Amino acid sequence: MNIRDQFNYNSMEGSDDKLMYAEQVSLPELAREVGTPLYVYSSEALIERYKAIAKTNPNGLICYSVKANGNISVIRTLAQHGAGADVVSGGELYRALQAGVSPEKIVFAGVGKTEDEMGAALDANIFQINIESEPELEQLNSVALNRGTTAPVAVRVNPDVDANTHNKIATGRSGDKFGVPYEKAIHLYKKIESLKGVKATGLATHIGSQLTDLEPFEMAFSKISQLACNLKSKGHQIENIDFGGGLGIRYSSEDEPSLLHYASIVSKAASAAGCRIILEPGRWITAPAGILLTRVIYVKRTEARNFAIVDCAMNDFMRPALYDAWHEIKPVIQTKESPDKETVDVVGPICESGDFLAHDRDLPPLAPGNLLAILNTGAYGASMSSHYNSRIPASEVLVKKKKWSIIRKNSSIEAFVADENIAEWLTE
Ligand code: LLP
Repeated sequence: MNIRDQFNYNSMEGSDDKLMYAEQVSLPELAREVGTPLYVYSSEALIERYKAIAKTNPNGLICYSVKANGNISVIRTLAQHGAGADVVSGGELYRALQAGVSPEKIVFAGVGKTEDEMGAALDANIFQINIESEPELEQLNSVALNRGTTAPVAVRVNPDVDANTHNKIATGRSGDKFGVPYEKAIHLYKKIESLKGVKATGLATHIGSQLTDLEPFEMAFSKISQLACNLKSKGHQIENIDFGGGLGIRYSSEDEPSLLHYASIVSKAASAAGCRIILEPGRWITAPAGILLTRVIYVKRTEARNFAIVDCAMNDFMRPALYDAWHEIKPVIQTKESPDKETVDVVGPICESGDFLAHDRDLPPLAPGNLLAILNTGAYGASMSSHYNSRIPASEVLVKKKKWSIIRKNSSIEAFVADENIAEWLTE
């Protein structure tokens, strides 16, 4: 796989310093024009990565997992190159449709779809709804009957395979809340036959996220293919298998999983089952296509540690606080005479010790005003941001060659509190 990195250093005219660029746009320029903290995404990286992963499933469908990065311009960039969408809420469905994803390429996953969300999915005429329990199947049946329609469904099966990833993002073990047990699936397909509001179109699974070891995929996909064959032999309609997402990336020292190997596992399972395959990659496409640009506010050197206090925080980017995730941090301006490194914790201004971006990093000695780029933040960055500490989360910019566009402008504190209402008894 030969995907170019789109965040590179280039020399500055008349100076020995080097500046980091996103494609052909310099990050200091973006920081000056738009302000920090700021997510910056590269169109080229999104497109190249989408095309590369699409090759692993040439006869099937790639439904980009919107939860990784739900910005409408990001989804549209991928949709223009053929991507469908995997959505898990009415909000994500709305985004995918606004982005122009065609409904016949949308699958609706998730463990707890409400009646309204089911209704919205049916009204939009999407390709498939993946159900995860018997009560959810019954609910979908009645929502469809009320609308005089039939819902296309796949049952998400929990194959009881440990994805060998972070505990909080493993989803395919029998004790996880996702899917139905393997044995129960047969019963559910029988039930689908007896209900008038639902019809089986496929089978689904998803065992977890950030898998760099491909063996768990192999185990799960082969179990699910066998189940598909078994169901087909009983006369059930299983045209598609949705293998979910989960392909990991290299954040630090992990082994970069091989796309070719992944493709061979997918295609082996596809031919064993004789089904069309749906994949739902999120992170693999968007994570390396984005950086989070932040500015140092203060540097605090103490006996115990050195802290670079920056203007982004866990509300902008939660992965370190939530999963102890490691993300590479680079200075945006590299000076020629890079002095000795200094070990620092890069932390945000939020009032919790859990609010950190990195611990114990060796960086050139930092000073207020310096810009840093936090890498691989195009997935599960902006989409997981919050307003904690009444902070306004980072804006987002999309770059295309020399062009850039603000694709989400963070709102003001006035706009944020405008949704609040003062209880009437407090106004008397
Ligand atoms: N399909 C389903 C049903 C999923 O639950 C997920 C992710 C995906 C696809 C996409 O997985 P990906 O290809 O991105 O690994 N916030 C966490 C990741 C949570 C993943 C949840 N489900 C993180 O920052 O690591």
